[in-house]
Amino acid sequence: MRNSPPNPHSTQNRVPPVSLLRPGIRSLLSKGLVFVAVLQCGFTISAQTASQAWLKYHPLSKPLTVPMRVSPLGQSLLEQTAAIELRRGLLSLSGGTPLESGPNMIELGTVQELRKQDPKQALPSLEQDEFLISAHRGDLIREIDIIGGSDRAILYGAFALLRNLAQGNDMSKVNLRERPAMSIRWVDEWDNADGSIERGYAGRSIFFDDGHVREDLAPVGEYARLLASIGIDGCNLNNVNNAAVFLTPQMLEGIARIAETMRPYGVRVSLSVDIASPQKIGGLNTFDPLDPAVKSWWTTKINEIYSLIPDFAGFTVKADSEGQPGPASFGRTPADAANTLAAALAPHNGVVLYRAFVYNHHADWRDPKADRARAAYDIFHPLDGKFASNVIIQTKEGPIDFQVREPVSPLFGGLTQTSQAMELQITQEYTGQQRHLVYLAPMWKQVLDFDMRAGGASTPVKQIISGKSFNRKLGGMVGVSGIGQQAWLSSPLALANLYAFGRLAWNPDLTSEQIADEWTRQTISNDPAAVRTVTKMLMQSWPAYENYTGPLGLQTLTDITGSHYGPNIESSENNGWGQWHRADHDGVGMDRSVATGTGFVGQYSPEVAKLYESATTTPDDLLLFFHHVPYTWKLHDRKTVIQYLYDSHYDGAAQAAQFVDEWTSLKARIDPELYNDMLPRLQYQAGHAIVWRDAITQYFLKLSGIPDAQGRAGHYPNRLEAEDAHLTGYKVIDVNPWEDASGGRAVNCDQNAKQPSCSAEWTYNAKAGRFNIAVQYFDLQGGTARFVLTINGQPPSPDASWSADGMFPTTRPHADNSTRHIVHNVALKPGDIVRVEGTPDRQDPAALDYIEILPATSENSGHS
Ligand code: GCU
Repeated sequence: MRNSPPNPHSTQNRVPPVSLLRPGIRSLLSKGLVFVAVLQCGFTISAQTASQAWLKYHPLSKPLTVPMRVSPLGQSLLEQTAAIELRRGLLSLSGGTPLESGPNMIELGTVQELRKQDPKQALPSLEQDEFLISAHRGDLIREIDIIGGSDRAILYGAFALLRNLAQGNDMSKVNLRERPAMSIRWVDEWDNADGSIERGYAGRSIFFDDGHVREDLAPVGEYARLLASIGIDGCNLNNVNNAAVFLTPQMLEGIARIAETMRPYGVRVSLSVDIASPQKIGGLNTFDPLDPAVKSWWTTKINEIYSLIPDFAGFTVKADSEGQPGPASFGRTPADAANTLAAALAPHNGVVLYRAFVYNHHADWRDPKADRARAAYDIFHPLDGKFASNVIIQTKEGPIDFQVREPVSPLFGGLTQTSQAMELQITQEYTGQQRHLVYLAPMWKQVLDFDMRAGGASTPVKQIISGKSFNRKLGGMVGVSGIGQQAWLSSPLALANLYAFGRLAWNPDLTSEQIADEWTRQTISNDPAAVRTVTKMLMQSWPAYENYTGPLGLQTLTDITGSHYGPNIESSENNGWGQWHRADHDGVGMDRSVATGTGFVGQYSPEVAKLYESATTTPDDLLLFFHHVPYTWKLHDRKTVIQYLYDSHYDGAAQAAQFVDEWTSLKARIDPELYNDMLPRLQYQAGHAIVWRDAITQYFLKLSGIPDAQGRAGHYPNRLEAEDAHLTGYKVIDVNPWEDASGGRAVNCDQNAKQPSCSAEWTYNAKAGRFNIAVQYFDLQGGTARFVLTINGQPPSPDASWSADGMFPTTRPHADNSTRHIVHNVALKPGDIVRVEGTPDRQDPAALDYIEILPATSENSGHS
């Protein structure tokens, strides 16, 4: 797939982050004196800007409804930032109207500052991050006050005002009071010191390179702007795996520079730590958390961190999990480890986010009672009440691992005396790696709104993690973000997920449609048709992806021991990783009931357990997560499981094709650069959805032996297989797993052959007409193979030759890299010779799966 690089020529909002300005300029900026000049001279440090995301501030078609003069009462760093952001935003939204100098103004201040200014003024008492924006209109002046419970709250208020204005909302009579629902609103970066990113799909780290903190931290400042604009207040910088190096003195100095860059936006940094650090980098011969020398090592290290970073937020811990060391090596519990860190962090107001993602990845798949889903509850529930008050247990939203659908983790209802946070992924590891459009807010909302019925009372997850249900001070949401140097998340529409994460951590009662609507207005356009279409695409994207990758609670049927991207159904079975779905000739699904299964269902409160214990009451979309049923099992609408598997995959792939048409309908309405960036991504997705569809339907057809009532699965009447063609140079290969190629086989152009290219030829012998010809090939890394389609020796159109220049996982022909190219509107008559010539390049053998002759449609679509 082609990733468009950020546009270095864009002139919008090219003001450097506040932290990178010299203090003198900062202060002038905060007074509004040099802002216009700075904006106009295009003073740029970074090509990666927040304007690539939602902070675009497109000029509005109507005049602004608020004054343009911004007057902060205080001088604090964050209040200055708020003033700068407002001026920048207002200037841009107004289309460059010079800032007003009259009496009308937006006044900024904390409650204390306003009291000092006018002791008689009646003012509300506001919480730390709470703001009030109110409009006043006198005879002569118009004023808007942004009052904060702290200077950070003023910044949140400033962004809230801008967010509303950018959506075209009339703010002349604004009266808006908001405070975040949760105290922990963090993003987790899984960045490694060498600059790579675990499960990141948008290029390299903006923080680290080659073992160091990067010199150029301008993108970090821009990222902090994005985070602050949606109320995110913490950023954990490094991978949860292999974290020891981040506590070395040299690294900590660099981390202090990152903290300084993010500080003007109220974003505090934190680090993932390796529990074995006292031994790995501290020279001790143990890391037993209860050993006095280990405790003292942590205290000294934490004091060192705070001497460099006084507002350091705390630690995230992955221990005893997937090969990471942990307290279990010494017979200690997670509470022992967490409390040792917590004690040393407490004097500095730091917190420990201890991850509940602890499980045995060498489980015995032959044991019908073994169940990875049970692990978090089995380990952490008995420790409830044993954690220090500054420890927060961070639990993934579902009991397995960020699958396309899972039930809510029962642990949320199982810790009533412990602070909790919900961890979710913004980076789309199992949900299409940003190559597929998958807006995740609807999935997160289902979890947030799910009522755990803990103690028989109403306890929705959002209230548990907000601290309300069990009266905890701390709690919140943590999003694994995966942002990188390629336009943050690579795909422009994927940024809706980062935006939605922040908005939900601020207010989990917002609906996913509302969030999609406001994101689209700020990012793409206020044009009603654009808003309608993009919102609809976003809202349909998760159900579509679920339909073609793993419906009915099967989880994502991907390559779980490899890339986590394309289909590889059996990779989940017969190994210790525990993502089993136990498909066999007769049926499919994991029995997790109490009566006959693993007993996982019993970890829920009785009311919820009652729902899941029986296959007849379990909702269809989780049926196979909780139960093993025959393929002929009837769902609630009386359709059989096997027919649903066929239908949902065909529906999902059709939906993905529909996204292309919907996006195409926006061509004249949206920024051409954005349009052209997104179109090939959606076309690619439509092709890859077919790869998924065919892999899973072929697989279950073969396993169950039950045909698709609609005759589609395993029958591809318009398809001409490469292995059946007249081949010159190409050799037939078996693809592994077999379901990743049509008919299980493909052809490879042998690198050692004398000829520089290979070809596959078919004689067309059906009706004459015009067609789209889809060519399914494997686009391997390490080379750029080239392909040409000819009809009777002539390429029928310019799009008949193309390069395999995408970047996909896996270095052999596999569904990960199976890609579709469509040559449109080709005239064919019986007897015509259709030929595909593939020219391999280095490690890319120009492998070919099949061609498909489809009815001619518009230039952009044709994926059916
Ligand atoms: C997933 C992911 C790993 C990650 C792990 C975690 O399994 O694939 O890369 O380390 O989650 O959350 O710790």
